[in-house]
Amino acid sequence: MQHRKFIDKNARILFNPELLPSAPAELFERLGLLQAAAPRLLHRGSVLFFTHNDTPMVFKHYHRGGLLSRLVADTYCRPAFSPEQPPRMWQEFNLLATLRQWGLPVPEPVAARCLETSPLTYRGDLITREIRNARTLATRLSQTALSAAEWRSIGQTISRFHALQVCHADLNARNVLLDDAGHSHLVDFDKSVIKPVNQTQCWMQDNLARLRRSLNKLLCTDSGTHYRDADWQHLLQGYETAGPLPALELGVKRKSF
Ligand SMILES: Nc1ncnc2c1ncn2[C@@H]1O[C@H](COP(=O)(O)OP(=O)(O)O)[C@@H](O)[C@H]1O
Ligand SMILES: [Mg+2]
Repeated sequence: MQHRKFIDKNARILFNPELLPSAPAELFERLGLLQAAAPRLLHRGSVLFFTHNDTPMVFKHYHRGGLLSRLVADTYCRPAFSPEQPPRMWQEFNLLATLRQWGLPVPEPVAARCLETSPLTYRGDLITREIRNARTLATRLSQTALSAAEWRSIGQTISRFHALQVCHADLNARNVLLDDAGHSHLVDFDKSVIKPVNQTQCWMQDNLARLRRSLNKLLCTDSGTHYRDADWQHLLQGYETAGPLPALELGVKRKSF
């Protein structure tokens, strides 16, 4: 995918011309207003699901987590942007584009916007194509137990990211999506990186440990969660025995609308 850039006043937009004929400046404006005016419209955290040109999409406004969020909810410090140091929304867009090229199951990036709010600060948003008919692993486990094969398949998916040195910065049960066809996908690549090969590999174990902690936390919060220790062992089996990446099956790609 050859992305395009659009810079106007304080807005910098990166967009996917295969999905959008021109820079979606107005679309971002409308979604931003909607998000600010009616935060309760936001689903599952901080995202808004919508359809544009007949394509289901997801709008994410970047929010800070932790204590700092009470002071500066959605504002980030701005270094001098450069090709090596783009805004973080652009980084997530670029990383998703690369991972898609590699055939990994992540959402297709549609557009990323960075708004400079002062000489030192910025905020921003990302639009991705919706992964259809999918629920988060957390939601699935609140409803039904997964089969051993489904747990193994999640382990295999994670292993394929790791085989390509992709370190997910926040691998948790809400960032793993399972679709109706039984495929798993990873979302939310903010602050995620492709690690250099010669670096120590302990980040892989850290990724897995983080996911395990998040599963245990679901169980602590709701003892009815369909998660048992044996499930984790099945996930690890899949992780350790993952084969080569299967052909990409992420839905029909439309060229123009
Ligand atoms: N492209 C997508 N398709 C379907 N669901 C998505 C997509 N992107 C995000 N989501 C849903 O929105 C939730 C929040 O998005 P995420 O990127 O994880 O942002 P946050 O930083 O708020 O965690 C995800 O857990 C997932 O349920
Ligand atoms: Mg998330």
